[in-house]
Amino acid sequence: RLLIIDFGSQVTQLIARRLRELDVYCEIHPFQNVTEAFLEEMAPRAVILSGGPASVMDEGSPRPPMRVFEMGVPVLGICYGQQVMMHMLGGRVERGDGTAEFGRAYVTPTKTRIDLLKGWFLEEREQVWMSHGDHVAAIAPGFEIYGTSPGAPFAVTADLERRFYAVQFHPEVHHTPNGKTLYQNFIQDAGFTGDWTMAAYREEAVRQIREQVGDRQVICGLSGGVDSSVAAVLIHEAIGDQLTCVFVDHGLLRQGEAEEVVTMFRDHYNIPLIHADEADLFLGELDGVSDPETKRKIIGRLFIDVFQKYANEIEGAEFLAQGTLYPDVIESVSFSGGPSVTIKSHHNVGGLPEKMGLKLIEPLRELFKDEVRALGMELGLPASFIGRHPFPGPGLAIRCPGEITREKLEILRKADAVYIDQIRKHGLYDEIWQAFVAILPVRTVGVMGDGRTYDFACALRAVTSVDGMTADYYPFSHDFLGETATRIINEVRGINRVTYDITSKPPGTIEWE
Ligand code: XMP
Repeated sequence: RLLIIDFGSQVTQLIARRLRELDVYCEIHPFQNVTEAFLEEMAPRAVILSGGPASVMDEGSPRPPMRVFEMGVPVLGICYGQQVMMHMLGGRVERGDGTAEFGRAYVTPTKTRIDLLKGWFLEEREQVWMSHGDHVAAIAPGFEIYGTSPGAPFAVTADLERRFYAVQFHPEVHHTPNGKTLYQNFIQDAGFTGDWTMAAYREEAVRQIREQVGDRQVICGLSGGVDSSVAAVLIHEAIGDQLTCVFVDHGLLRQGEAEEVVTMFRDHYNIPLIHADEADLFLGELDGVSDPETKRKIIGRLFIDVFQKYANEIEGAEFLAQGTLYPDVIESVSFSGGPSVTIKSHHNVGGLPEKMGLKLIEPLRELFKDEVRALGMELGLPASFIGRHPFPGPGLAIRCPGEITREKLEILRKADAVYIDQIRKHGLYDEIWQAFVAILPVRTVGVMGDGRTYDFACALRAVTSVDGMTADYYPFSHDFLGETATRIINEVRGINRVTYDITSKPPGTIEWE
């Protein structure tokens, strides 16, 4: 196993991603949890120290135990991890007054080439992504410089003897195009053979679920999305009929979705399923609410209430299973000194109220979206289902900026169905990470036939993405857009204007709320 010690960088999870892509099993643990005893027990074969927002110059700023450097295993320090390493091993870090470096930079090699950089510098220099305020002013004894950049003279340093490597930039992000090679070299040095697969994950997950649950009962919240479905099928494989699924139909689903889910689970998988039709409850509470965070909180709270209600009916239910993914966890987490902004409150995380008295099972908590899909395939779910675009827990509520009404939801469902049909007909569905319609809280004037119309405007959204963390808008042809707009306006009563959202993430988010 490889241990990633997290010092709170927004992109720590991408390190895990790169390593998983290389079929290496790794775990991320927040620095607070990594004690000497923890290290003894985990006995990692290599350690990566992540970046983070703190300054090593600050009192009380996070440190790993010194033991990390005494275990005889390779250590890679990234950004803050690099600085911490230098600081603890006898180098010097300085505050970057005026020398902060953010964004694209180029690293050039020194004369001596090292294995860590094997496959690098096919050009004279490599593009990397920097994001640091402080910088290393003197490297620790034993280290040598192997790459420099204008803003970071110690961009790549290493103590080859002890197999300690330190880089100032972030090799895990897409803007360091060749960064994966660096990880590949690092894990090779650490002796990993790349034998971690989805089949292995499945086996291990099944074992863990059995161990955790024993002979007790689990209820699983199905949302209709791929994630909770994969979680349910996985748990069902582990414990069979000890699992009951509760499909909370909050009245915010897409057209035909509820029927599809119910049929698949009840008839195809034979998983006990309760269809909780609670549209009235959700829409009632959302009535008149237009603030996005308030909507999310209401939906999250009701979700839990509804669960509690159904859980009480299932005798002996002690666990609640959810299809929480890693990006959900990280985007909602704000730990002290760490990434402190909560961008959105994801409805399916945030901790269950104690009063619910259910323990949480989240077997996908460590996986990225594409890994969940791979696991779904591994579990035999239909490819067409697995290939579906992600659908957020709060459903259409967050695609309906402003107040939610049944009328708007009905219009939105129809428009969305036409849009997705268009995308499928043009063979674009699988090229797109996620596509949907948002109905805008504004009516505009139009003319149809000889009459004036005063109907809603909508926005089409389609993005490409690898992990949902960053995204680009999809470059539809004008013909496609024109044809789609015409179809929506002709086929959906209540919409007379169609716009296309060309914002990438960042600065936008994928959903509108
Ligand atoms: P954003 O809008 O934050 O979305 O760029 C990134 C991805 O996450 C999905 N999303 C959610 N998924 N619960 C979920 O299960 C949520 O509360 C939630 N909010 C956003 C979104 O659809 C996109 O795929």
